[in-house]
Amino acid sequence: RRLAIGIDIGGTKVAGGVVDEAGVVIHRTRRDTPHRSTSPSVVEDTIVESVEKLLGLVDPADIVAVGIGAAGFVAEDRATVVFAPHLSWRNEPLREALSQRIDLPITVDNDANAAAWAEATFGAARGESHVVVITLGTGIGGALIIDGAVQRGRHGIAGEFGHMQMVPGGIRCECGNRGCWEQYASGNALVREARALIEAGSPVVADLLTRLGGDPNALTGPIITEAARDGDAMARELLADIGTWLGVGMANLAAAFDPGLFVVGGGVSAADEMLIGPAREAFKRQLAGRGYRPEAAIVRAVLGADAGLIGAAELARTGR
Ligand code: BGC
Ligand code: NA
Ligand code: ZN
Repeated sequence: RRLAIGIDIGGTKVAGGVVDEAGVVIHRTRRDTPHRSTSPSVVEDTIVESVEKLLGLVDPADIVAVGIGAAGFVAEDRATVVFAPHLSWRNEPLREALSQRIDLPITVDNDANAAAWAEATFGAARGESHVVVITLGTGIGGALIIDGAVQRGRHGIAGEFGHMQMVPGGIRCECGNRGCWEQYASGNALVREARALIEAGSPVVADLLTRLGGDPNALTGPIITEAARDGDAMARELLADIGTWLGVGMANLAAAFDPGLFVVGGGVSAADEMLIGPAREAFKRQLAGRGYRPEAAIVRAVLGADAGLIGAAELARTGR
């Protein structure tokens, strides 16, 4: 058997799995991402622990490689994380640091590029020539696939769509700028807006507060999505707002790249039509030349929150 381990390091969770040749996850592990104020080596410890745990669940001889999908700017050397808004990495020689502790070939890629590769190989983007992949988690991840190849740019850092400016002078972003798209259309944005209503003592979030047992700190994106699914009007509205920002940003990306398909993944995409519906509407309303040009389809990622780890494993398994 030729299996690979994939590790997806996001701003909130480190998700790992053993993945087979068909892209099926046969074992998993999940940990919290160490806070960005901790040293880079703490994140590396978390990765190594995850790999060791997964190796203990299989015949280690079956594992051919380890793939890392990291939530940051991965250089063209596919080894160094030059910057990561949600993690402590600054010019971090990640592959080198891990190679000293893991005795298997290691590949490193941006987390959204990894997710896009999984969707292109096993999921929603199979057989499509021009695809933009958007992952909504702590931040917004992006990837551009043309004729089956992830486009990485001159320095490896193409696809950082989450840091396009949407609102001049808008909300501060961890990248150093203001008004970035990910401040308006991510899981963080969703939680921030709900929290603002809670702090304002608004009665519209009474149902949400009950779910939290009265503890506003217990609030997470998945809890908001669950409330929305149960019919909570405010939770639905918050998701629709995120969806609207998503659609506006995708219209900008359509102006730049003219893709045939947008694939929306990441944790927030679990909200499905409650998110994608408003995104499609906003996209149609914002598209330059609307009514005259062909419109890209907008679909949810088939592999959901597993896409990053599956793609990282597949990139590693095939040595890409
Ligand atoms: C980072 C990207 C990453 C994305 C999703 C953004 O803030 O700049 O590199 O892909 O978050 O994790
Ligand atoms: Na990317
Ligand atoms: Zn930013």
